[in-house]
Amino acid sequence: MKPLKTIHIGLSPNNTWKDTLKAFWLLLPWNIFWWRNGKKRAQLENIFQQKFNFQYSFAVGSGREALFIILKSLKNFLNWQDDSEIIIQSFTCMVVVNSIVWNNLKPKYVDINETYNFSLEELQKKVTKKTVAVIIQHTFGIFSEDIKKIAQFCKDNNIILIEDCAHSLGAKYQNQFLGSFGDISFFSFGRSKVISSVSGGMIAGNNKQFENVLSKELEQVNEMSYLKIMQNLWHPIISSFAKLFYFSFIGKGIMFLSQKIGLLNMEVSQEEKMGIRPKNFPTKLPNAICNLALIQLEFLDFFNKKREKIAQIYDQNLHIKNKLSVQKYLGSIWLRYPIQINNAQAVIKQARKKSIYLGDWYASPIAPKDINISKTFYQVGETINCENINKKILNLPTFPKLKSKEINKIIKIVNQYAEN
Ligand SMILES: Cc1ncc(COP(=O)(O)O)c(C=O)c1O
Repeated sequence: MKPLKTIHIGLSPNNTWKDTLKAFWLLLPWNIFWWRNGKKRAQLENIFQQKFNFQYSFAVGSGREALFIILKSLKNFLNWQDDSEIIIQSFTCMVVVNSIVWNNLKPKYVDINETYNFSLEELQKKVTKKTVAVIIQHTFGIFSEDIKKIAQFCKDNNIILIEDCAHSLGAKYQNQFLGSFGDISFFSFGRSKVISSVSGGMIAGNNKQFENVLSKELEQVNEMSYLKIMQNLWHPIISSFAKLFYFSFIGKGIMFLSQKIGLLNMEVSQEEKMGIRPKNFPTKLPNAICNLALIQLEFLDFFNKKREKIAQIYDQNLHIKNKLSVQKYLGSIWLRYPIQINNAQAVIKQARKKSIYLGDWYASPIAPKDINISKTFYQVGETINCENINKKILNLPTFPKLKSKEINKIIKIVNQYAEN
């Protein structure tokens, strides 16, 4: 068997040796006391606030949990009725929609354009008297071009604007951080996101009233279970080991078995795909996991600069029409570099043969494909542009450890298909 170095867009792409060593240290039995106790959460929140100029921030179990807590708090505080409408783009992930539905609110879907975000015009078509909030996504870390117009529109119409910055930590529009244009925002430190503590999220904003409401709500929120903390700590260790052998059945087997015996958890659980709320949801972000997030936050600027450079190389060397200009979207952080190509799934298959794992966020409206769509209130055909893009979308990796040789390999494969 010839060893091949695996390039994997989703298997702990940001992981560093520092994370692996810290996770190993925290797993030692005498450190269990520190899994929930300690000052790391306060430290993480302080650094986050200062770095991104927020008045407040709260570290929680994940991005999806952050959104759940935001909606629950605002629903109570602003007296939203059940079935009030939350506008969201259909080019998104099921876990985001779950957080709306589990609050007895109704997702209303807006179509996207070629930047994978929506325009003010599309938004205006969807607003009704029942609309109470809009979620704007900055997909792949690419800023929404209409962010200022959309913020003004929401203000004029008494609609809350929530920025989903799960893909866009550190990104800017006109020199201002994303997350600071709306009324409140949330971020993700999930395993395939901009920085990664395996799971994790942050709520942030500048409105004092919302801060008070959220802080009261958070008093009721549980701590993360010891089982989930353990799974999160094992993740950087097992995944970095498995990646060494991922070109063969050994690496895949290690990941599969670790998940089967409960040493690792899934990014999106089976129950979440079915629209069922997990038992301990939402939670706060525990001390041990904040340790990992703090390590990664130190690398953020370096990571994002590298991502932009890699996106620039794709931009300059891919022979395809449907790609975005890095120069035009300066300030974006390119968590993944999205392109559209007719035979996207064939390219993915071909690349896998060379141990290159490309991405397909999002190959269906409200991804992944194997969800219970009836739980999302989405009607097939509702957002045509999104559904067309779903068929052609391909995400190229931009993670900081990618080498020039590897980037060239990816470009070669894509160009072969683009020219056929
Ligand atoms: C656009 C978007 N928003 C929010 C989330 C939720 O983030 P998390 O995985 O931290 O719950 C995800 C990912 O799952 C996402 O892709």
